[in-house]
Amino acid sequence: MGKDVIVACDFSSAEATFDFLSKFENEKRKPFVKIGMELYYAEGPSIVREIKRRGHKIFLDLKLHDIPNTVMKAMRVLSQLDVDITNLHAGGTKAMMRAALEGLTRPDGTRPMLIAVTQLTSTDQQAMEEDLLIKEPIDKVVMHYAKCAEESGLDGVVCSPLEAAKVHETCGHAFITVTPGVRFADGDIGDQKRVMTPKAAKEIGSDYIVVGRPITQAADPVAAYRRCVEEFIG
Ligand code: C5P
Repeated sequence: MGKDVIVACDFSSAEATFDFLSKFENEKRKPFVKIGMELYYAEGPSIVREIKRRGHKIFLDLKLHDIPNTVMKAMRVLSQLDVDITNLHAGGTKAMMRAALEGLTRPDGTRPMLIAVTQLTSTDQQAMEEDLLIKEPIDKVVMHYAKCAEESGLDGVVCSPLEAAKVHETCGHAFITVTPGVRFADGDIGDQKRVMTPKAAKEIGSDYIVVGRPITQAADPVAAYRRCVEEFIG
């Protein structure tokens, strides 16, 4: 399982995205790109095909959550985009996760990696209890959702870097952890609350880090990307 730095391309247009990616044209290591809802809904599947054509690996972060049959059919369409990783909400139940895997698997047996969002890091204990009526401690809920994802055959979870070690303990080391909330020791934390440096994320065993603004908003994005790779992969 190769470790990598995934750059969150949270841009609202193809133009802004390609302006940014063109800075990396001469880099030997092409950044692994995360395409989220904003960019995908603005530009559609063509943005995925074009970034792929330029030689980048892609994490398509659309967080599907619907009835199993609908998710299966949506995943069947996404499997044709040839992304490397995609995701869904574990809260959709094991039946939904198994249906997603079925839809994602191509006739030749290959498929992108499928990972689950457990509880969003924007959901705290209070919101979980009051809005979702889930009364268990949030870390127990996160580990339970991770275990359900693993039992459904998924490849890993998106989680806080602070949860990565516990996820590996609960679900095994082959089960991957993809962790956002990464900041340089001397950088701005922005609206992220619980952050970790790329080096610390490496030490606690994250498999992939997702880094947005520390790279996209840097004065020199290529230098910031190289610094992340150096700290996280070495
Ligand atoms: O700019 P920044 O490094 O904070 O970007 C982090 C990326 O990871 C964003 O695309 C954000 O939506 C995503 N993300 C997150 N926290 C989660 C799940 C996803 O920050 N729990």
